Amino acid sequence: MVSSARFLFWPTLVPSTPTPLLAATDPAWTAVILDNFEAFLADHANCERKASALAMSMVMRYADRHKIVPRLIALAREELTHFEEVYQIMARRGIGLEPDGKDPYINQLLDCSRTGGDERLLDRLLICSLVEARGAERFQLLSDALEEAELKRFYLALYRCEDQHHQVFQQMAQSYFSTDQIRARLQTLAEREADIISHLEWRPSLH
Ligand SMILES: [Fe+2]
Ligand SMILES: [Fe+2]
Repeated sequence: MVSSARFLFWPTLVPSTPTPLLAATDPAWTAVILDNFEAFLADHANCERKASALAMSMVMRYADRHKIVPRLIALAREELTHFEEVYQIMARRGIGLEPDGKDPYINQLLDCSRTGGDERLLDRLLICSLVEARGAERFQLLSDALEEAELKRFYLALYRCEDQHHQVFQQMAQSYFSTDQIRARLQTLAEREADIISHLEWRPSLH
């Protein structure tokens, strides 16, 4: 269900990049999702669509950053494929797309972004890396918790894909920033991410 060609643009991935997450999701979170899986699917579809739109918005904002534009375009395409795949699952279940709801997790994280040119770029890339890592972590939990074989496979494939994405965003950061700059800022943002996710009410949503 997930395109096998997705990594063609990223031949230099470093698979050993560890997750930047500092707080693990309680596996009990999956019970909330499974209790209202249809609502979760609608939220998940929106998350994938917005991830694609965000990548494309970064393409235009950073159009002169030629080292990252091709990767952002590839990411946008891949997230749109994920959206299509979730939509197809929803359609088979007779579920329609829902309007966007607020995503306090994303909004609070983006509020941590600094506003200067280079600082903003670094923060956006690292925040995206954290969001991808959190998505990967939760898709893996969900794959473990689901009973339907096709859905288990789908969320396992998504886990692997989003886990690659968190590395891709860090690699993009390495194109323009030093290891020390990345490490210091990632620590700050990862601490903030852990605090935000730990204080959010559990809902039938990815965040
Ligand atoms: Fe995705
Ligand atoms: Fe992703």
